[in-house]
Amino acid sequence: MTTQFRNFFKHALKLTLSMERWFFIVLIPIFLLTCKKDSPLNNGDLTHIQHNPLPHEIEQPEFFSPMEIPSDNPLTIEGVRLGRFLFYDPILSADSSLSCASCHLPELAFADGQKTSQGVTGEFGSRSSMSLINVGYFNNGFFWDGRAQTLEDQALHPIEDPLEMNESWANVEEKLRRNPIYPKMFRQAFPIKNEIEITRDLAIKAIAQFERTLISANSKYDQAVSFDNPTVEYSQLELDGYLLYFRDIQTNHPGCHHCHAPPLFGGDTYLNNGLDEVQDLNDFNDLGYGAVTGSQFDNGKFKTPSLRNIELSAPYMHDGRFETLEEVLEHYSSGGHYADNLDPNITGFTMTQYEKEALLAFLKSLTDDRFFEQSEIKNPF
Ligand code: HEC
Ligand code: HEC
Repeated sequence: MTTQFRNFFKHALKLTLSMERWFFIVLIPIFLLTCKKDSPLNNGDLTHIQHNPLPHEIEQPEFFSPMEIPSDNPLTIEGVRLGRFLFYDPILSADSSLSCASCHLPELAFADGQKTSQGVTGEFGSRSSMSLINVGYFNNGFFWDGRAQTLEDQALHPIEDPLEMNESWANVEEKLRRNPIYPKMFRQAFPIKNEIEITRDLAIKAIAQFERTLISANSKYDQAVSFDNPTVEYSQLELDGYLLYFRDIQTNHPGCHHCHAPPLFGGDTYLNNGLDEVQDLNDFNDLGYGAVTGSQFDNGKFKTPSLRNIELSAPYMHDGRFETLEEVLEHYSSGGHYADNLDPNITGFTMTQYEKEALLAFLKSLTDDRFFEQSEIKNPF
């Protein structure tokens, strides 16, 4: 009797469980489908959401030249916020596995710690990721070879690059329109009336707005040297390194400041710093700037990166060939490899062990710890 009872209950339980399963399998999709029809916000209409963006004021460091912001993309609080979400959201990549931040990690000065970057397909590109700090102040092109003219233009590239996010913009636009959070955020940031107006042009504008807020100007160097009233003091080692960095005699000097000049310490010029041994100017593995300008004399030239926060963005150079700053110093003191367009400021020099340590200590004083503490630069999800 008891076994019969038990069996009866077992069957009853199984039946309810499988009915429940059917409920989930059949009814929920039907429910979702019906929702979908009505709710893509009344045929995509967004006018019920308020559009009243407030200006985002940039905290302009007084010793930087004012940031050049395109007149058709002023910074707003809502635009910067949207850009930050997009920057950290893998929705921009083909299999939703990679966001901009996968290769631009805030804690690594927005670089990725890899020799060269790995895209969604698992393949590695030929170039190293770049820091994005103070990128809003660079006015002479983007990428190691300068092939993008503006930050807006730059942000178009990674999405469709097969070695990066490998997605089509048409798909990204569709995904953004169907997403539960983005239509509202786009409407708050830009004067659109309907989801259909969510386009790549607005997405890249928002991303560029966020990038322009990544401002770092509060390193120990800034506090010790560049203000009228220094708030901290350099150690003797840092001070000696500073003097070496800026030393201006013509022989046996590191000469770093000629190319990585304050206040940004780089970002705006394309030069050959002697990394590669070549037979002639057509012999560079990666033509760099020359492939963009079409001038043979620019072959093998690359963007001179900013050295602010440089201790965090190893490995170094366009192909990540140097793992440490010590290796970088060895390269410069060797004088590099000759080519017809080798920059005349690459001359080779000798340094004592103390001088090396001093220069390294100075480079590390360009790290801005407080920049990295700001929650508004980090992942919002
Ligand atoms: C797969 C890794 C990867 C992803 C994903 C990626 N980047 Fe990059 N980023 C790189 C690499 C590598 C470079 C240098 C490429 C070159 O010079 O050809 C770069 C360069 C840049 C630069 C140029 C900086 C300068 O000083 O010139 C900006 C800006 C930038 N990325 C922003 C973005 C944004 C915005 C996204 C998302 C839409 C993104 N990146 C996604 C790897 C990546
Ligand atoms: C002739 C101009 C020039 C001089 C002088 C110069 N650099 Fe550079 N520097 C460059 C260029 C150009 C690059 C990028 C080269 C590349 O990747 O192909 C670079 C890259 C670097 C990098 C790698 C940055 C990164 O994000 O990967 C570091 C670090 C660096 N330089 C430090 C120094 C130091 C320290 C000195 C002084 C000892 C110095 N540089 C002198 C032009 C110069």
